[in-house]
Amino acid sequence: MTAPGRVILTPFIDAAAIQRRVLELADAIAKDVQSGELLVAGVLKGGFVFTADLVRVLNRLGIHVRIDFLRVSSYGSGTVSSGTPVLSGDLSEKLNGRRVLLVDDIVDTGRTSRFVHDRIMERRPAWLRTCVLLDKPRRRVVPFDADYIGFRVPDAFIVGYGLDYDNQYRDLPELSVIRFADRDPEPPFSFRVEGGTVLFKGHLDAKAAEDAGDTLLRWHGDLELDLAGMQGADRDGMNFLSRLRESLSEKGFTLSIRGLKRTLQETRQEYHKC
Ligand code: PRP
Repeated sequence: MTAPGRVILTPFIDAAAIQRRVLELADAIAKDVQSGELLVAGVLKGGFVFTADLVRVLNRLGIHVRIDFLRVSSYGSGTVSSGTPVLSGDLSEKLNGRRVLLVDDIVDTGRTSRFVHDRIMERRPAWLRTCVLLDKPRRRVVPFDADYIGFRVPDAFIVGYGLDYDNQYRDLPELSVIRFADRDPEPPFSFRVEGGTVLFKGHLDAKAAEDAGDTLLRWHGDLELDLAGMQGADRDGMNFLSRLRESLSEKGFTLSIRGLKRTLQETRQEYHKC
């Protein structure tokens, strides 16, 4: 596959934020598993980094696992996805009567997760749960709800931490959005997560609020918003910030905002122009 023009990687979720979330997910899984054996089934290739990090945190929490991998590919003989997942490498462990945790990097259309989940259920495990780092609910074609989700993300092309473009960038410790200079213009709004801080850049309007909402309205934990790079917001954008504060507060978390005064000034100027 040839890249259409210069590749631009924009940081999206940094390694520190990923590791914090892996810890929270492992904690939730450990509480559900409590004790006894757990078979972790990682989906290759994309799930290899997340699986490796997750099992090491589970170990620290006292959950000792057996690990197996399966490989699923949605590609036929060419490079265009057929959309039909094919099992190209099966698990070697027996599943009958066992507790199985299926781990993958992302649920996108849902085809892979649905396919793997259903194949595993045919082998009659005692318990099956699915854990994914990323969920893109807006892209779903086949219904699928993972039991443990790291981050819900907007419909952007994300690479790193196991996710690839043309089998590259899987080794990046952070998640980035990839675009191609010749094809994809710079988006008018973007945000990135660094640890517990979210940095906004550009203009916060309804579309931007919807994209950011995929990730932030489902955030688990305290959050600091840094609006220093934001060039104003319209009414929908300001409403989004209020909803974000409410949503976190309902879950018992707090939202602190840096640079709001400047944003409000710019927003007011914008209203006056109208
Ligand atoms: C990716 C990813 C998931 C799947 C999700 O795998 O690792 O397994 O796509 O997409 P879906 O929800 O639309 O099915 P891919 O087929 O690209 O193979 P890879 O893991 O080897 O990169």
